[in-house]
Formats: sequence, structure tokens, C-alpha cells
Amino acid sequence: MVEVIRHASGGGEKKLFNNSAQLWNHSFFWQCLTPEAQQPSGRLAQLIDDGFGGVEPLLQKLGDEAVNHFSNGWAWLVLDRDHLKITSLHDADTPLVHDGMVPLFTLDVWEHAYYIDYRNERPRFVTSVLSNIVNWDFVAQNLDGNGADRADQEGAEARSSEAIS
Ligand SMILES: [Fe+2]
Repeated sequence: MVEVIRHASGGGEKKLFNNSAQLWNHSFFWQCLTPEAQQPSGRLAQLIDDGFGGVEPLLQKLGDEAVNHFSNGWAWLVLDRDHLKITSLHDADTPLVHDGMVPLFTLDVWEHAYYIDYRNERPRFVTSVLSNIVNWDFVAQNLDGNGADRADQEGAEARSSEAIS
């Protein structure tokens, strides 16, 4: 699937890009969440301290990015060489097609992500997710640069390759 996303992006195939990237973004997003309360530790905790001065300031900044992102998109925590960066991308856009954006964590801020439970209250959705259900173990794992593969759905590549040829 990752190969398809990059192929579609490079070739300007908008429909294929939107659908494959959204599939990957969501597959990644689900793994970013956990019902267990967790805190960052080890190298991740160190990177967070170095870049933001602690977990609370990081979550504040990530929350601001998510809340203030205009319209549909995704808030991201990424690794850029050796430091953490917060950003957001529009619509289906994904770190997989940007240099210096190793995906670590994402939050869906398309309205469909929160409308059923929170109506139009995006800030309440964002705070609720970031305060309670971040899978820090998954975020830490992704420091190895293999986060793209963790959301690569088995079989998706074969089916998509047939669609391309
Ligand atoms: Fe979504």
C-alpha cells in the first residue's frame, strides 16, 4: 500500500492517492490509540523533553495544531532527522510522501472523526484523545523509522498493483 501511495502521488493520480493514503492514515491512526493509560519513556521521553520541555507542553502544542487545522486533515507528530516536529496535513495528505517526516503519531481531525460523539466540538475531542488514549508504546516503536510498514495492510499491495497495471 505504501508503494501505491507514493506511486499515485508521484504520478499525479489524485483518486488513487486519496483513497490509498486515507486507508493508510486510518490504519496508522487506530494503532496510535489504546485504552490503557500510558506515558512516554526512554528515548521518546528524552526527545520530548529536548524538543518541547515535557509531555504536557508537547500535548498542548499538538492539540493546538489539531484544533486550528482548517477543515479536513490530520495532525502529526513526526521525526525529522533527530528531532520531533508537530505539523498537520490537509485532506488525505500523508507524511509518506514528504521528506523529513517519519510518522510517529497522528490524530484525525476530519469532522467524521468526532461528529457522532462530540458534534462540532473538535477541541473537546482533541483533548479527550490526547489526555487519555495515546499509545505511547506505538509512538516509541515508530522512532525506528518503520511506522509506514506497521500500517501497511496485508494484501492491499497485491490488489492495488492489479489496479495500477
Ligand atoms: Fe477519519
